[in-house]
Amino acid sequence: MTKLEQLYEGKAKKVYKTDVEDVLIVDYKDDATAFNGEKRGTIVGKGVINNRMSNYIMKQLEKEGVPTHYIEELSDRETAVKKVQIVPLEVIIRNVSAGSFAKKLGMEEGKKLLCPTLEFSYKDDALGDPMINSSYARALGLATQEEIDTISKYAYKVNEVMIKYFESIGIELIDFKIEFGRYHDQIILADEISPDTCRLWDIKTREKLDKDRFRRDLGNVEDAYQEVFKRLGIE
Ligand code: TMP
Repeated sequence: MTKLEQLYEGKAKKVYKTDVEDVLIVDYKDDATAFNGEKRGTIVGKGVINNRMSNYIMKQLEKEGVPTHYIEELSDRETAVKKVQIVPLEVIIRNVSAGSFAKKLGMEEGKKLLCPTLEFSYKDDALGDPMINSSYARALGLATQEEIDTISKYAYKVNEVMIKYFESIGIELIDFKIEFGRYHDQIILADEISPDTCRLWDIKTREKLDKDRFRRDLGNVEDAYQEVFKRLGIE
């Protein structure tokens, strides 16, 4: 496969065309942003960790029946993926109160929820990714009810698989954000799953091992990403 011209540069990844139909190459950067790009920085080695971790998790999810965009890891930072049309929804699942949920509801962080929650944000940087519900998504033509049902089913399945997996390596899955794409007639998991897009706390100490260390200037950002990567035990 040949990497052709760059199609797009996002906040954390670049996307390239290839000579194969329906296949793109994503290239993960060390750039980090928060608060809709207001805060900028670099997390050294993040691109490699996020690429390899995301691929590893997507492979596990495929085995558990969740279709993903993953095709092949090409290098430490590059992966071949299926070219999808991204559904403009950020799909967020929460198991424990944290972040915007805790703030909105005046709750302390770290309280176990009685059941996982599912929420959608409309992917629009200019609007600051506002939270919407499924009827907004239908009314705005962002997704059909059938697509929303499929997305919700897969999102809960991703949660189930990831809770168990992270627990086995001493990590509590607090919450995460995923995105889906349309590939021919199918809805598949796209984008990435990494410490950029999940809240991951050490089970024993509840130390934050994710991008909140960067967002909140908690220090030891690189160490936290490395710790998660080490525990994953990826060859
Ligand atoms: P929140 O508590 O700030 O709404 O974040 C919920 C989850 O979504 C958390 O795991 C971090 C992740 N997230 C992203 O991946 N991208 C984003 O732009 C935001 C705001 C959150």
